[in-house]
Amino acid sequence: MLTNWNDPLANLRQNPKTTAQASAVDIDLESQKLSNSHSTTPDYVPTVSPGVDAAKVQNLSQDEDLLQGATGLEEVEFGAARISVDDKQMINCRADLNQLVPFKYKWAWQKYLDACANHWMPQEVNMNADIALWKNPEGLTDDERLVIKRNLGFFASADSLVANNLVLAVYRHITNPECRQYLLRQAFEEALHTHAYQYCVESLGLDEAEVFNMYREVPAIHDKAAWAMKFTQSLGDKNFSTGTPEDDQRLLRDLIAFYIIFEGIFFYVGFVQVLSMGRRNKMTGCAEQFQYILRDESMHMNFGIDVINQIKIENQHLWTTDFKKEITDIIRESVELETRYAHDTMPRGVLGLNAKMFEEYLQYIANRRCAQIGLSEQYPGATNPFPWMSEIMDLQKEKNFFETRVTEYQTGGSLSW
Ligand SMILES: [Fe+2]
Ligand SMILES: [Fe+2]
Repeated sequence: MLTNWNDPLANLRQNPKTTAQASAVDIDLESQKLSNSHSTTPDYVPTVSPGVDAAKVQNLSQDEDLLQGATGLEEVEFGAARISVDDKQMINCRADLNQLVPFKYKWAWQKYLDACANHWMPQEVNMNADIALWKNPEGLTDDERLVIKRNLGFFASADSLVANNLVLAVYRHITNPECRQYLLRQAFEEALHTHAYQYCVESLGLDEAEVFNMYREVPAIHDKAAWAMKFTQSLGDKNFSTGTPEDDQRLLRDLIAFYIIFEGIFFYVGFVQVLSMGRRNKMTGCAEQFQYILRDESMHMNFGIDVINQIKIENQHLWTTDFKKEITDIIRESVELETRYAHDTMPRGVLGLNAKMFEEYLQYIANRRCAQIGLSEQYPGATNPFPWMSEIMDLQKEKNFFETRVTEYQTGGSLSW
């Protein structure tokens, strides 16, 4: 069977199938093999859930909506058959999205559990030492103050942007309940992160309007946010839906832009700068907030990598030579933007760091990001000038979070009615 990518409906019109009958689409994979694929099953034809009338699928020319994935908001079909694991897929899935189990992607559920096990709240971090240091005119140099303010400025709006991207753009197009469960947890964590920055701003008595508006006033901060915006506006468009190779690539590209680049590259100069301060015993409360945020973010990115790779496995036709080139180009562009951010937050050397070290670091992590999604490394030989960062990110080596807690949660038992 030949597949005509210009008309993705053609296969279904010619050969409507229910899930039980569905077979792989014959496509020439020779030039499109995934470099890190675990599966060779191309699965472009959206499956039809047991509850969907196969006769409806035969009338696709009248009902092309069926090619789009489910949303979870469809009419409840009384008497529809139970879900099987094989009905589930990452995008363009027609199976009922309101049923969490049976799990197909156990890694997504595990990440949800791990994220819940790492729960924290910004108010639990003691900010007293930071407040004293910030208010002391001799406490910090101007360059050190700039590092704190610029990073709070970048992250304060960046995490809102990530949260809005998740709930208003990404969520609708990921047609898998266990991944959606993680996305909901992630969305809450992004809210906690924005809360943490607000908490730092309030604790230090900074001008909140200045900090939160920085992404519209400071060029290097503006440029990163503006760069990301086009990748969320695209998916957030209410007329956009997946279901054609071109639209599925659009989703994949936008997932890469947010998970690999925004959360995986654009956050890292700021993380290194603020954590370096903490390592020198300065602004330890802010550094601790950033440490918990970094731990969350590294899990967000790893989840994104797994989703991206799973979409590639299930839709191998999307990973074309041209598409890989496009992704590589945007990763290289993002490294330039983040390098500029490093210069802008750190015009002179401070804390034993300088912008040149960040250039090397960004090339090193960009190489890692490329490898994680099966692209070739772009900066041969780049090394990591901040090996301590890997330790902080490694959950196993993390100090016991509960030992550092300064407040307790209000639990059901302590609520007064
Ligand atoms: Fe975040
Ligand atoms: Fe995140």
